[in-house]
Amino acid sequence: MLVSAKEMLNKAREGKYAVGQFNINNLEWTKAILLTAQENNSPVILGVSEGAGKYMGGYKTVVGMVNGMLEELNITVPVALHLDHGSYEGALKVIEAGFSSVMFDGSHYSIEENIEKTKEIIKIANAKGISVEAEVGSIGGEEDGVIGAGEIADPNECKLIADLGVDMLAAGIGNIHGQYPENWAGLNFDALESINKATGDMPLVLHGGTGIPADMIKKAISLGVSKINVNTECQLAFAAATRKYIEEGKDLQGKGFDPRKLLAPGFEAIKETVKEKMELFGSINKA
Ligand code: 13P
Repeated sequence: MLVSAKEMLNKAREGKYAVGQFNINNLEWTKAILLTAQENNSPVILGVSEGAGKYMGGYKTVVGMVNGMLEELNITVPVALHLDHGSYEGALKVIEAGFSSVMFDGSHYSIEENIEKTKEIIKIANAKGISVEAEVGSIGGEEDGVIGAGEIADPNECKLIADLGVDMLAAGIGNIHGQYPENWAGLNFDALESINKATGDMPLVLHGGTGIPADMIKKAISLGVSKINVNTECQLAFAAATRKYIEEGKDLQGKGFDPRKLLAPGFEAIKETVKEKMELFGSINKA
């Protein structure tokens, strides 16, 4: 059964590790992430952007697929199904469809409007036991049409949003969606420290997990980061493994064109990437 992300993140914050949010794009992605979590006895969050939800046939399709896998693949570790960078309307839709967690990204509104809308989502989600992530500042780069300037979050604004009763808070600290440019300045730990102080024991969320060096990940966890989002890295691993299969001409040998064979190397590559991240985040054997 799907669970809210609240308990797993509070435990992570207390235990000084982070739970990975891995974004899903299709059945292979979902199965690879769920099996890796189970094999490593790790809690996990499946992230769904609005674009990916649409691509997979709608939120109800996603809920049906994930619930079916939990049951038929005997997944017993805690799994949350979470909307990533949701709009107000998107958040309402996934709550209706059966997601167990939702991000309402009001970071592009004024702080007053962000507060008002976040408050409304919390009220509706909490009544159903669904966890809520909010965002202050913004994540740089672009993900599925969501574009951010990469503003560093103001700790006072973080506190205002945290005090509304969100379960996890994403704060811009120089992190970027997608691959980091050569001249990236790194995470802003002074900002993270101030945000951590201002928000008490709130589990903080680090978006843009792809390509952040291990030492920065560890430091971020020590400063209150309890959830780390990874998307691009699984996509790159999947694409590279699929490219290799085709470039080696394996799709032309025997029944190598069978999608179950063609997509298998990419599937294994996602599993490997997810396992590496779970090791780095410290969530293995924390289910
Ligand atoms: P990356 O694609 O950079 O890993 O970021 C994922 C993310 O933050 C999802 O919200």
